Amino acid sequence: MAQPGPVLEGKGRTDYERYIRTDDLLALQKDDAKLVHPEERLFQITHQAAELWLKQVDYEVNRVAAAMKDGSFAGASDLLHRCRMILDLLRDQIVIVETMAPADYHVIRLSALGKGSGQESPGFNKLLDVRHRLWPPFEEILRAAGATPLEILRAPREHYELHRLAQAMLDYDAAFMKWRYTHLRLALRIIGSRVKSLKGVPVMQLEGGTREPLFGELWDAISDLTDQTRPEY
Ligand code: HEM
Repeated sequence: MAQPGPVLEGKGRTDYERYIRTDDLLALQKDDAKLVHPEERLFQITHQAAELWLKQVDYEVNRVAAAMKDGSFAGASDLLHRCRMILDLLRDQIVIVETMAPADYHVIRLSALGKGSGQESPGFNKLLDVRHRLWPPFEEILRAAGATPLEILRAPREHYELHRLAQAMLDYDAAFMKWRYTHLRLALRIIGSRVKSLKGVPVMQLEGGTREPLFGELWDAISDLTDQTRPEY
């Protein structure tokens, strides 16, 4: 039986190709003949895939802020959980680059990257701003509930939905810092600790980002809760 042809507009032989826009997507990688080293494809695709997923997280974070403003705490928690899963995926994905020999990376670094730096990643930079997008609506929720972060952590069942939201924010925050830590380990593995990036930034400057939470008040509340249990040291 003859297969029906595509019904969607666009380039490509099938509706799959037209919807996913595989022609455009798969033209975004350097041609094999132009790669400065066979390992360069992995480097470029890893970054491109990361930018796509970061775009998705950025999009979901806007939805989280909207859900918080609408009072949909469960919806906000679910979307944050999705974001955290994507950040975990990015963490798993980045270590694949550690299979590249440092010497091979230097060929790519010196001949293909110009003065490029991960600090220029548009997707990553948007996520550095997540605190400014999520903390104000969360503070508003706390104000309306008449509760502090510590009170919410102290009574998880009494503040069930708010506690779940606070936990989802902590999970997101932890996933972001873990990504940054895994990336630091990757940089140490491939170029070492006593060197600078192509922008002249010392590698070890990355360490700061591994311990800069977005929602410091929530992490402080965890310490406060422990203090209040009056442990004897
Ligand atoms: C050979 C592997 C890699 C090395 C040696 C490396 C090295 C570095 C260095 C030295 C920096 C800090 C300074 C600067 O960029 O000027 C940096 C930042 C960054 N890189 Fe990489 N990187 C590698 C792979 C990747 C990959 C695969 C990604 C994305 C998927 C990535 C994303 C980023 C981001 C987002 C930053 C800013 C991070 C922050 O400020 O915490 N890098 N990288």
